[in-house]
Amino acid sequence: MSKRTFAIIKPDAVKNNYVGKIYNHILEKKFKVLSAKLIKMSKFQAEQFYLVHRDRPFYEELTSFMSSGRCMVLALEKENAVESWRNVIGATNPEDAQDGTIRKLYATSLGENAVHGSDSNENAEKEISFFFCESELI
Ligand code: CMP
Repeated sequence: MSKRTFAIIKPDAVKNNYVGKIYNHILEKKFKVLSAKLIKMSKFQAEQFYLVHRDRPFYEELTSFMSSGRCMVLALEKENAVESWRNVIGATNPEDAQDGTIRKLYATSLGENAVHGSDSNENAEKEISFFFCESELI
C-alpha cells in the first residue's frame, strides 16, 4: 500500500479563501503534509501537468483555468493515501459528490472543482516529483 499522494487546492478555491478550510480537512483526516507551497502555474506548466488530457475537448479550458491564479500544491502521506484522498475530495463533478466531501462543500463547477487528487500510486509519484524535489519532502 503506497503512502503518498499529490493534491492541488485549485485557483477557484484559493480565490474563494477556502485554503484554510481545505487544509483542516487534510489534517482532520490524519494526512501528514510532507510539503505544501503556493504557486502560480504557467500555461506551459499546466499543459505539461495535464498532458494525459491533451486530446480531450476540455484541455484548453482546464489548462487556462489552472494557470489563471494561485494554487497550493501538496505532497501528502498516509496509509493508502491515493484512495483515501480521493474519498475525502469526492467525485470529479461536484454535483455527483457526496455530502461532506471537499468538492461538494467548496467546488464551483466540474471545470473549477476546488481540488485535485492523483488517481494511482504511479501518477502520485510522478505528480509529486513534477512540483517537488526530494529535499522538500520532509
Ligand atoms: P482533476 O482531478 O484535476 O483532473 C482533470 C480535471 O479535468 C478534472 O479534475 C476536472 O476539473 C477537469 N474536467 C474533467 N472533465 C471536464 C469537463 N467535461 N469539462 C471541463 N473540465 C473537466
